[in-house]
Amino acid sequence: MASPIVEFHNVVKRYQTGDVTVTAVDRVDLTVEEGEFAVILGASGAGKTTVLNLLGGMDAVTEGQILVAGQDITTLNDKDLTVFRRIGVGFVFQFYNLIANLTARENVEFAAARSPGRLDAAEVLAQVGLTDRLDHFPAQLSGGEQQRVAIARAVAKNPLLLLCDEPTGALDYETGRQVLELLTEVNRERGKTVVVITHNSALAAMADRVVKLRSGQVESVTLNPARRPVAELEW
Ligand SMILES: Nc1ncnc2c1ncn2[C@@H]1O[C@H](COP(=O)(O)OP(=O)(O)OP(=O)(O)O)[C@@H](O)[C@H]1O
Ligand SMILES: [Mg+2]
Repeated sequence: MASPIVEFHNVVKRYQTGDVTVTAVDRVDLTVEEGEFAVILGASGAGKTTVLNLLGGMDAVTEGQILVAGQDITTLNDKDLTVFRRIGVGFVFQFYNLIANLTARENVEFAAARSPGRLDAAEVLAQVGLTDRLDHFPAQLSGGEQQRVAIARAVAKNPLLLLCDEPTGALDYETGRQVLELLTEVNRERGKTVVVITHNSALAAMADRVVKLRSGQVESVTLNPARRPVAELEW
């Protein structure tokens, strides 16, 4: 039986800017099971990035608990939180965020360097189809190739979770589909739990679990009995 790898319990995140308080995440409860492909959907401003940043230990909750593999990350001290970010989670961002003066291989090696369970950089780059781009710098790669390096970088850490914030947001339609295919492959073949956030509701069908956010709250949770292949999705 699957067990939860992520649990949010009554999570609240408020930002205070001058006199204005924004409640970006408002009493969110959610669960992701180990090995699932989860999609978090919502309009701009719904709180998606905030949820992902809290889950990845990049931002601190105002209230509530976040359990990752049974451990409450909201109670970690700075040192342990750093270790969690470094080893526990792999991030994929909309604009790739590769290090410009490192090659594809070096970007992957650098990110994974302190992860005890790290995977071989060249092997992971081969899985994402970049065997002949190992020594290219980011500026010498297309957007889709850069995103594949970013996915390889996240995967090579061999983290508990792969967290992706609008991973296809900067890519054209076809390249975006290839990147989604790759994420499903990583999920299936390596059994990695993947969380993708997007405003594109067409991606709901490719997920095991769909969490819809609206104004910082969970509007609905849907479990798909079967995932649709990316090739069958249209948007
Ligand atoms: N650091 C911050 N300080 C103040 N307000 C913030 C901060 N980060 C986010 N917010 C506010 O919290 C709300 C949720 O933001 P968030 O970035 O999580 O939305 P999102 O769903 O990711 O939107 P998008 O699809 O546009 O990326 C927004 O109203 C935003 O203005
Ligand atoms: Mg966002």
